[in-house]
Amino acid sequence: MPQHNLIRVFTECGVIDAGPGEIVIIPKGMKFKVDLPNGPARGYVCENYGSYLTLPERGPIGANCLANPRDFLAPVAGYEDKETPCELYVKSLGRLYVTDLPQSPLDVVAWHGNFAPVKYDLRRFSPVGSVLFDHPDPSIYTVLTSASDMAGTANVDFVIFPERWVVMESSFRPPWYHMNVMSEFMGLIYGVYDAKPGGFVPGGMSLHNALIAHGPDAEVFEKASRKDLVPERLSGTMAFMFETRYPLSATAYASQLELLDGAYPDCWDGLARKFDRS
Ligand SMILES: [Fe+2]
Repeated sequence: MPQHNLIRVFTECGVIDAGPGEIVIIPKGMKFKVDLPNGPARGYVCENYGSYLTLPERGPIGANCLANPRDFLAPVAGYEDKETPCELYVKSLGRLYVTDLPQSPLDVVAWHGNFAPVKYDLRRFSPVGSVLFDHPDPSIYTVLTSASDMAGTANVDFVIFPERWVVMESSFRPPWYHMNVMSEFMGLIYGVYDAKPGGFVPGGMSLHNALIAHGPDAEVFEKASRKDLVPERLSGTMAFMFETRYPLSATAYASQLELLDGAYPDCWDGLARKFDRS
């Protein structure tokens, strides 16, 4: 999922170009390489070890909206005819292995079938939401899901918060305060995330592991509690979440970065006690 700049993914089935706002899905075991045609790039990666990613059940939403199958684009066949040495990396059982090959392994001249890499433009997602009152569960923004054997706890859900109209009356419109069994890894592709407009920048990430309470910062709470609830368009924004039933842990590398936001919990400072038993 590129966040800054273009990536060019060469796969056994062909070439995929993707920029910020698009995702690329590469099936297990498919050989690929990534070029950066416009220079340094940055993005997010999710490795799925469970069931294949599928579109979620739409239920009563019916036949249309959310992510539509027609928008997932597979490449036309493309191959490399290169008799030059190359290195092939393989990840197996959590370890990386490398071997030398005398030629490019991306030498598939033609293909057919459905085990293909695809790309998807997240701006093609048609969001569905509350049109009168209340705040639906963010699962309505699920683009893709990898189901587990326990209903309601996916191996991983890929959820986006795209630009959209927000119209609910008599409701607290930002994400509510909650804790959940699933772990939430969040990122921001571009724009402003409405629950934390100041402390969450494009290219950043936050992790709220299973059963960690969280919600909007104190300033957002105050504003959303008092504002005039006219229809509002959240424009130019694309946040996302990898939500998983498993607890996530930071790598040793990530844990030691100087960029860590040590003051993150302070965003809830100032949340005043509002309870009044009368
Ligand atoms: Fe959450």
